[in-house]
Amino acid sequence: MKTLVIGATGQVGHELARQIPSGLIATTRSGESPFAGVSCLALDVTDLDAISALIARVEPGLVVNASAYTAVDRAESEAELAFRVNAQAPESMARACADVGARFVHYSTDYVFDGDGREPYRPDDPTAPIGVYGRSKREGEERVLASGADAMILRTAWVYGLRGQNFLRTMLRLGGERDELRVVDDQIGSPTPAWLVAALTRELVARGAPAGIQHVIARGAVSWCGFARAIFDEATARGLLARAPRVEAIPSSEYPTPAKRPSYSVLDTSGLAALGIDVPAWRDALAETFMRDVGAGASALG
Ligand SMILES: NC(=O)c1ccc[n+]([C@@H]2O[C@H](COP(=O)([O-])OP(=O)(O)OC[C@H]3O[C@@H](n4cnc5c(N)ncnc54)[C@H](OP(=O)(O)O)[C@@H]3O)[C@@H](O)[C@H]2O)c1
Repeated sequence: MKTLVIGATGQVGHELARQIPSGLIATTRSGESPFAGVSCLALDVTDLDAISALIARVEPGLVVNASAYTAVDRAESEAELAFRVNAQAPESMARACADVGARFVHYSTDYVFDGDGREPYRPDDPTAPIGVYGRSKREGEERVLASGADAMILRTAWVYGLRGQNFLRTMLRLGGERDELRVVDDQIGSPTPAWLVAALTRELVARGAPAGIQHVIARGAVSWCGFARAIFDEATARGLLARAPRVEAIPSSEYPTPAKRPSYSVLDTSGLAALGIDVPAWRDALAETFMRDVGAGASALG
């Protein structure tokens, strides 16, 4: 089966390209392939006609959309672009998939919830995004669900890895530069490595999981501050940092950002359990992330 991965330079897209053994066609904005030997086409997803034309031409059996506008703070001042990439583009992809009879996998976010809950959010719980990014992702979900495509929407959260732009890489860089860091302790979520998102996506597709919304995250929850401390424990144990900085817990009010973030955005994964799919605890997934590629771990400091 031909699998089209859209956005193969991103954290999740890159992992998908790495984990899909055969039949892979990737797209990147430039057309440059993420790996030697992977066939790759150029696609700017703001060009909605180009999306339909490319899917009609390739005729894939499966399309996975890993492209997204993910700059949560910048989205507050670039709403039009965020909605084009996160809502209109996925709708075009889903409609084109329906036309060629392809399955469609699209990713969404824990930020579709307002964070006022204190129990893990279930896929059908009411959404109430509190920022432009979350609103644009929610509109993407609605448009994909209404498209008539055989579409799975996988909500994930706090995605990180040893490449790309993410919290882990920022902590490793700052940890190498400073003796003390102040990190927000009143936002709770589930740090989820990109390799795990890709692996769970493959598992869901392989098991023929039903269309609709699924939650795809590592098990358990922690604050950004707790996550930072765990990153430094791992990095020092593996010799990637000579010593851990002191991490001071602060409230979000002491770290103002343009976009408000949910204070609690843990997602219920009983849908995965019902399909017999196990997910690792976030702390084990963090250790596994370092273990997978010690060389990449070292370069994460650069
Ligand atoms: N990161 C998180 O913490 C997080 C949390 C919850 C949910 N998610 C969701 O998970 C999915 C994957 O996120 P990620 O972290 O892997 O994202 P990412 O690393 O930010 O990658 C985004 C990808 O989208 C591509 N892209 C953006 N605008 C494009 C355009 N106009 N044309 C073509 N490509 C474009 C980027 O290409 P360039 O490299 O060319 O810019 C990049 O390949 C997304 O749906 C995201 O909303 C992420």
